[in-house]
Amino acid sequence: MRLLVLGGTAMLGRAVAEQAVADGHEVTCLARGVAGAVPEGVQWVQGDRDLADGLAGVTDGGRPWDAVIDVARQPGQVRRAVAALEPVSDHFVFVSTGNVYADHSGLATDESVPLLSPLDGDVMADMSVYGEAKVACEAAVLDGFGADRTLIARAGLIGGPGDASGRSGWYPWRFAHPAGAGGAVLTPDDPDLPMSIIDVRDLAAWLVRCADGGTSGVFDAFGEPDTLGGLLSAAREVAGHDGPVVPASAAWLAEHGVQEWMGEDSLPLWVSDPDLRGFGSHTGAAARAAGLRNRPVTDTLRDAAAYEEGREVSEPRRCGLRDDKERELLRLLGH
Ligand SMILES: NC(=O)c1ccc[n+]([C@@H]2O[C@H](COP(=O)([O-])OP(=O)(O)OC[C@H]3O[C@@H](n4cnc5c(N)ncnc54)[C@H](OP(=O)(O)O)[C@@H]3O)[C@@H](O)[C@H]2O)c1
Repeated sequence: MRLLVLGGTAMLGRAVAEQAVADGHEVTCLARGVAGAVPEGVQWVQGDRDLADGLAGVTDGGRPWDAVIDVARQPGQVRRAVAALEPVSDHFVFVSTGNVYADHSGLATDESVPLLSPLDGDVMADMSVYGEAKVACEAAVLDGFGADRTLIARAGLIGGPGDASGRSGWYPWRFAHPAGAGGAVLTPDDPDLPMSIIDVRDLAAWLVRCADGGTSGVFDAFGEPDTLGGLLSAAREVAGHDGPVVPASAAWLAEHGVQEWMGEDSLPLWVSDPDLRGFGSHTGAAARAAGLRNRPVTDTLRDAAAYEEGREVSEPRRCGLRDDKERELLRLLGH
């Protein structure tokens, strides 16, 4: 397959390009080169998708693309890509997100949940309208390529190696490096919260296979359904942790300045709003029926932790608690 990846310099796009090269495909990535470098074995075309002619380097080659895989979140970038590439490409795979859904209160849901309204305009100003922007991107691809030539993959939380957000790496790293006395680790007290992580390599492998096979449709692409408690147990297993696990209620954590999901002084893989309880609970069954294979989550957490160990954290982590903060909170809880 002659594959064009729009992206390829950040976590998922890079994994897609790497996988496609490993599978023997001819891979070109278009990106500015700001987020990082493309993997070895791909052809990099430098281009800025915010410019009207930013895709010229991949549309003027004369030979068509068998498939395009796009990770963009800006509707204008996607509209321009669809207009420029539809005449020269067979198939378009768009990486979307579970944030497109308008309702996250239901549990074990599928692709039938209603969507947010699409964002007006070409530019998502900030992440508060991320879901709306992705809805607009999805619509642009479906309008341009038609349902038979489009695959929309609505990813759940993506984890594993390269997860610079730290969300998948936090707990296995923390259990390996507890801040509290006697190895104590602070966690949210909500073990039954549905939550899952899709391994970046599993998602990449599936996207490449779908691109190669011309698979079309709209799919939730999530990890195996799990819970916060299950993920914490897996993280402890990976880290070999046998110290105390100290659960604290959402109200107590909020009172003591701990944020949910991510950000400074946060605990990830956790949201307390009942209206968001189903956010991590999409089953992803249709994608699995279409060939998505999820590796054991322990593998994902082990490799996310190894990535955490290996990277320089010179600026504040994007999630998790500072040692001194967590130690103080644990002390208040009697540990
Ligand atoms: N992380 C999660 O848990 C999660 C969950 C659900 C869905 N998703 C979706 O999964 C995908 C993740 O993609 P990713 O890991 O590859 O990371 P990303 O950070 O979303 O990647 C953005 C890519 O687009 C390129 N790009 C940005 N602006 C550009 C421009 N003006 N012109 C050309 N290229 C541009 C970047 O390269 P340069 O900066 O080098 O140009 C980079 O390769 C996204 O679609 C995201 O919405 C993520």
